[in-house]
Amino acid sequence: MVEHLVGNLLAESKSIKQNINQIIDQVSAASEVITGPRAPLKKFEDKAKAHVDKVGVNRGRPLFYPYIGTGAGRGPYVELEDGSVKIDLINGIGIHILGHSHPSVLRASIQAATSDIVMQGNLQPNKEYSVLGEKLIQLGSKNSRLKHAWLTTSGSMAGENALKACRQYKSPAKMIIAMKNAFAGRSMMMAEITDNENYTVGLPKYNEVLRVPFYNKNDPKSSEKSLEIFKSHVAKHEGDISCFCFEPMQGEGGYNSAPREFFLPLLDFCKEKGIPVWADEVQTFCRTGEFFAFETLGIGEYVDVCTVAKTLQAGATLFTEELNPKPGLVSGTFAGSSVALASGIAILNELENGYMGKDGKVSQVHNMFVDMLNELNESSCRGLLRDAGGMGLMVAATPLDGSKEKMIALLRTLYKNGLMTFGCGKGPFRLRFLLPAILNKSDVEVCKKIIEKSVLELT
Ligand SMILES: Cc1ncc(COP(=O)(O)O)c(C=O)c1O
Repeated sequence: MVEHLVGNLLAESKSIKQNINQIIDQVSAASEVITGPRAPLKKFEDKAKAHVDKVGVNRGRPLFYPYIGTGAGRGPYVELEDGSVKIDLINGIGIHILGHSHPSVLRASIQAATSDIVMQGNLQPNKEYSVLGEKLIQLGSKNSRLKHAWLTTSGSMAGENALKACRQYKSPAKMIIAMKNAFAGRSMMMAEITDNENYTVGLPKYNEVLRVPFYNKNDPKSSEKSLEIFKSHVAKHEGDISCFCFEPMQGEGGYNSAPREFFLPLLDFCKEKGIPVWADEVQTFCRTGEFFAFETLGIGEYVDVCTVAKTLQAGATLFTEELNPKPGLVSGTFAGSSVALASGIAILNELENGYMGKDGKVSQVHNMFVDMLNELNESSCRGLLRDAGGMGLMVAATPLDGSKEKMIALLRTLYKNGLMTFGCGKGPFRLRFLLPAILNKSDVEVCKKIIEKSVLELT
């Protein structure tokens, strides 16, 4: 007689849990020395440089930063093979929202690594697949009509699935309305939706995307103009519009945000015309003060399809009942690794405890960081860190003269001085931060000193 399932016994085993706790304690104890930024150490530098060079040769293109992590990190700090420690304000471009070596994430990862398989698939899922899908629906359906979640392995693939769902629903319509400066990913079609010619050099143009300007806070007629252009596209392509795709806050395109009032007329018009609305939340997911930026903006009722990734440790496409694709349209071998899916669940569970809402930690981190940038812009770095802002953990400022050269020079100087971040936009070129939600006041002070030093070094 089988009384218990082995998988359940393993998942609930006290001794496995004790062992896992011991590992986590060991990792924490060993990592205690990672307390703040540190310059590279002579004795590790040569070997690390050779390693970085080899990676560049192997992949056919050098790394942007001479960065190879050792696998150790603590909160916002990460240790590199050259012996340096950086304060990490880019987090794998938005993957490590809880920083490095967060105990809840470690615990979930190690437990999941005891399961029988590494990669889970859409044919043979394990329980993490089900729990993560259910969690997404629970969070996503609170303030929207979203009902289903299909897991995949990247934001781009989630986007492909979203587009397929919209096009099938509106078949045979093919045109996509997207924003100027949009970023949707790197697959062939997502690169086409992305408004950056540098990312499609040498590729054929499919001419299936119609552009609408994003909100411009300096133009009082910005909303009217966008609506007018939107309407003219629809009039010209009546019956051939498959969807409206937008980022509730633009990421790569320059960290541009817009008020609810900008989106409402566009969304009302979509509703009137029966155009499916696809919110690309690959970057905004969990970052704007609510789990979904459509909640922060109060536009959830309009959303038919929503894509998420990064923070999730996987990709997912959420859709309403009507937009649920017919069998055969979306599938694929991989749904994600057991460790990734379990970590995604742990991260969402953790973020439910005090991070969201008006006074949640996301909003506190935002305020501390933006205040710090503004303070610098008004004092020692006068006028050299302009327009600091964004939403929640997505913060940017326009540094120096806003040119690409200066922005990149600043990134490299920050890196040298112990702070890692990245750029966005394409004129002005902006300094962008994907802040970890665990950043505290003293970490922000560390950032302030490095940013100030780096900006002044360049002037
Ligand atoms: C808004 C948005 N959509 C889609 C993507 C593509 O996601 P991935 O890089 O996981 O394919 C990104 C990635 O940066 C993004 O920011």
